[in-house]
Amino acid sequence: MTSAPLAMRRDVTQPLNPAPELLSADAAGGITEISMPMTTPGGGRTWLVTNAEEIRRVLGDPDTFSNVLRLPSGGPGGDASPTGPGSLLGLDPPEHTRLRGLLTSEFSARRVAGLRPAVEQIAQSVLSRFRHDDRADLVAQFAQPVPAIVIAELLGVPSTDRDEFCRRSGIAIDTRLAPLARAHNRAEMQSYMGDLVSRLRREPGTGLLGDLVRRHGEELTDAELVAMGNLLLLAGHETTSSLIGQSVLLLLERPSDRQVMLRDQASTAKGVEDLLRFLTVFHFSLPRTVRRDVVIAGTAVSSGDRVLCSFPVANRDPHRYQPVEFLPSRAPAPHLAFGHGIHYCLGAPLARLEMQIVLPALFATFPEIRLDAQDGVTFRDGSLTFGVETLPVALR
Ligand code: HEM
Repeated sequence: MTSAPLAMRRDVTQPLNPAPELLSADAAGGITEISMPMTTPGGGRTWLVTNAEEIRRVLGDPDTFSNVLRLPSGGPGGDASPTGPGSLLGLDPPEHTRLRGLLTSEFSARRVAGLRPAVEQIAQSVLSRFRHDDRADLVAQFAQPVPAIVIAELLGVPSTDRDEFCRRSGIAIDTRLAPLARAHNRAEMQSYMGDLVSRLRREPGTGLLGDLVRRHGEELTDAELVAMGNLLLLAGHETTSSLIGQSVLLLLERPSDRQVMLRDQASTAKGVEDLLRFLTVFHFSLPRTVRRDVVIAGTAVSSGDRVLCSFPVANRDPHRYQPVEFLPSRAPAPHLAFGHGIHYCLGAPLARLEMQIVLPALFATFPEIRLDAQDGVTFRDGSLTFGVETLPVALR
């Protein structure tokens, strides 16, 4: 029996968090009740939505499906968002519309396209740190630092703070550390963002946060600016870093796919799209709270219930994607890796740009690169994203 390639070893056809054994029925029908002790504060039921069309309907209707989690304490759950109080991710309209509108105008396609030379330079400078080594851990030395430095560049973190910013950002997403250590570090990062916002209020500089201060400084509170900085860092770092790590592993295991994908810019862009779909690193089942009785996939769901949208299952639906597995030359196939609706990932163009630059740069720098010892590859799945934790490679 041949063993499955490492990159495939997670069976993502099974719904993730909650674990498959907690599901009361086959998820293929599009919706299933989760038979685990998981009631909503009002005693409602919890449902897992697994069909792409139904997920689009849920995420596209914020009036019916709220993103504000009501916690047992009674307070709005925005404060429980992993990205901190007042974060876009925990808000509904009209607050969400106001803050997202300000951020979107600063996160323009032009700004992202303008970041291309910086991302290329960042990828090269990170690669140059181990260019002459024989071995490397591509998570710690490549997949983690590149997106952290890109976000520092995007936000306008002063160059004197960059190393410290990236070190802390790395600790904040390092799942090998105890949760307490990571939480402590996130709190310190939050306080760093507070300092940065005060400094930018005095001297805005050229980054995204500084531009926000310059143009909308009067309308935005310090807490909102800090939440935006935190959100961009946490939403953009761990996700992109997981995708880089998982993609590199997959391409190391499939040299012929690698050749097809990295042939030219257009093939790389196509391949990145299918990596996004197939790997669906943001594997967390997105929760929404139901605000009125509604029918999903033929099942009556009541006001007060909670629905969880499972991207990994929807993105590997065999009725939609044939073959289900990674196909670098696949014709553009719509997927849900970046979500849908009003919370659709704001950083999607940046994530795509980073992937399109870092993968060719890595394999061009180290044409003989290979997995060092398969047993050395370790995975993490205890967080919002799925990814490799260590990726030891021989570089020559
Ligand atoms: C939202 C995935 C990279 C910033 C989201 C959502 C998903 C997602 C699924 C929707 C969450 C929801 O509906 O509640 C990803 C993946 C990435 C990635 C898979 C990389 C491979 C980035 C980057 C940035 C970013 C690089 C910015 C630097 C955001 C922001 C939101 C968001 C600000 C919240 C939007 C809102 O609530 O209106 N992302 N993301 N993401 N993402 Fe990303």
